[in-house]
Order: sequence, then C-alpha cells, then structure tokens
Amino acid sequence: MGGRLQGKIAIVTGAGQGIGASTARAFAAQGAATVIAELNRETGRAIADELRSSGAQAIFIETDVTEKDAVAAMVARTVETFGGVDILVNNAGANVFYEPLAMPDEEWERCLRLDLEAAWLCSRAVLPIMLEKGAGAIINIASCHGFRIIPHTFPYPVAKHALLGLTRSLGIEYAAHGIRVNAIAPGYIETPIAEAYWNTFPDPAAEKQRAYDLHPPKRIGRPEEVAMTAVFLASDEAPFINAATITIDGGRSVLYHD
Ligand SMILES: NC(=O)c1ccc[n+]([C@@H]2O[C@H](COP(=O)([O-])OP(=O)(O)OC[C@H]3O[C@@H](n4cnc5c(N)ncnc54)[C@H](O)[C@@H]3O)[C@@H](O)[C@H]2O)c1
Repeated sequence: MGGRLQGKIAIVTGAGQGIGASTARAFAAQGAATVIAELNRETGRAIADELRSSGAQAIFIETDVTEKDAVAAMVARTVETFGGVDILVNNAGANVFYEPLAMPDEEWERCLRLDLEAAWLCSRAVLPIMLEKGAGAIINIASCHGFRIIPHTFPYPVAKHALLGLTRSLGIEYAAHGIRVNAIAPGYIETPIAEAYWNTFPDPAAEKQRAYDLHPPKRIGRPEEVAMTAVFLASDEAPFINAATITIDGGRSVLYHD
C-alpha cells in the first residue's frame, strides 16, 4: 500500500474522537504506522481497531498527556512497537472558557497543563529521537484563539497563544537538524462538541445557522479538512514549511466587520 506517509511512524494525541480521530484516520490511510495516544480507553481502542481492520498498522496507548511519566512510557512503547517516531501531532486539548474573574483558580492550571504544557511534554519526549534520526515533524493543533480573542473564553486563548510561541521556538531551535515544527489553527469545526453546544439552545438549528453565517463560505469547517492539512505538513511535501501556522477558518479571521 503506497501513501504520502508510507514508512513513517506517527503519534496523534487525543485521537479517540474529533479532529484527532480524523487525523489518525488520514495518517493511516496514507500509510503511516499510527499511535492513538488517548486518555479515553473506549474511544482510543475503537479508533485503533478501526484502523487495523482497514489494513493499517495502529495501536492504542492509554495516555494522559499532562503526565510526564505517562508520556515517556507512551513514547517508549511507540519505539518498541514500530521502531521510532517521525511525526507527533499534539492534538489533545479542551475548551476552558470563563469570564476571567469568574474562573475558579484550579481551571487556570487545568487549561494550561492540557492546552499548552502537554504539547511541550510530548515534544520533549520525541525530540531526542528525531534529533538522532536528523528528521521529524511536529504539528501542534492550536486554534484561531491563538491570535484572536473572543470575550469570556479565558484562559484558553492564553494557552493557544503560547502554543504558537512554542511552535515558533522549537521550530527555530531544531530547524538545522531536519526537524520541522508547525501549527494548524482551526476555526469553528463541526464536531460532536459543536453539535452538543447547539443542542443547548432552544432552537439548535438556528444556532447552527448562526455559526455558519459567521463564516465567508457560509459553513463551518470539517475535521477531515484539518486532517488533510496535518497530512500535508507531516509529509515530505512540506520540507521548507517550518515555524509556521496554517489557519483553517474559511477566512473568518480575515473578515472585517463594519
Ligand atoms: N473543534 C473545534 O472547533 C476546534 C477549533 C480549534 C481548535 N481545536 C483544537 O483541536 C484539538 C482537538 O479538538 P476536538 O474538538 O477534536 O476535541 P475533542 O474534545 O472532540 O477531542 C479531544 C480528545 O482529547 C482527549 N484528551 C483530553 N484530555 C486528554 C489527556 N489529558 N490526555 C490524552 N488525551 C486527552 C479526549 O479524550 C478526546 O478524545 C484541541 O486541541 C482543540 O483545542 C478545536
């Protein structure tokens, strides 16, 4: 089976559902041996089983990416199983949204650990392996909250701004060693979470239409569209793209409101 990621070994964090699951599916379809590094045993296993039944090499490794030891164990098992790590997608994340002064103290730490520090812990664990090989690609799934602010979404944008800083810092540090570090900044993506959010409104269809209307193409993004960009950045088709952020929002963040 040929593919754009044939022969590569990839770790996708938080790949049990949503954007991570789509990315794992796209990677496997392009020939990568894929590790589902996921906290949720049920969804993580199900995705790995699905990929294997389609003929791909895939394993689920139960991992809390905010725990340094768990991350080290996950990377060690990846190397034992597949023989290395060529690609890391730091995708695990969660919306932590408050008006700043209404935020419970512990939520700051929960957000910063998952939406920022976990990407560093995972990068820190794979970088020595990539350095030894003189090649590697790290892709951080950031957000449009990484450069724009929607009130009452604090402290998620603080973490996502810093995730772009992490992307740029590591991208520069290791560029001369064949390692590329890039970010994808998705806008509003149609996931089960978006669906569940619309369902909290008295008229879910109207709320969904409102979300669509915010975007120049009159729809929101699809997880597969983020996954396609992750495949491109992870592949040998993007050898000179480094320390960059690709925005996937249909142009919403460029639109000037009058
Ligand atoms: N969905 C969107 O509209 C959107 C937009 C911009 C950015 N993003 C970003 O994309 C990424 C994925 O978003 P999604 O909407 O697919 O999310 P999701 O909630 O559907 O999936 C996140 C996955 O991460 C896993 N996870 C959570 N904590 C973990 C931990 N500590 N260790 C390992 N796995 C853990 C969850 O179990 C889940 O499977 C996130 O970083 C998010 O911030 C999403």
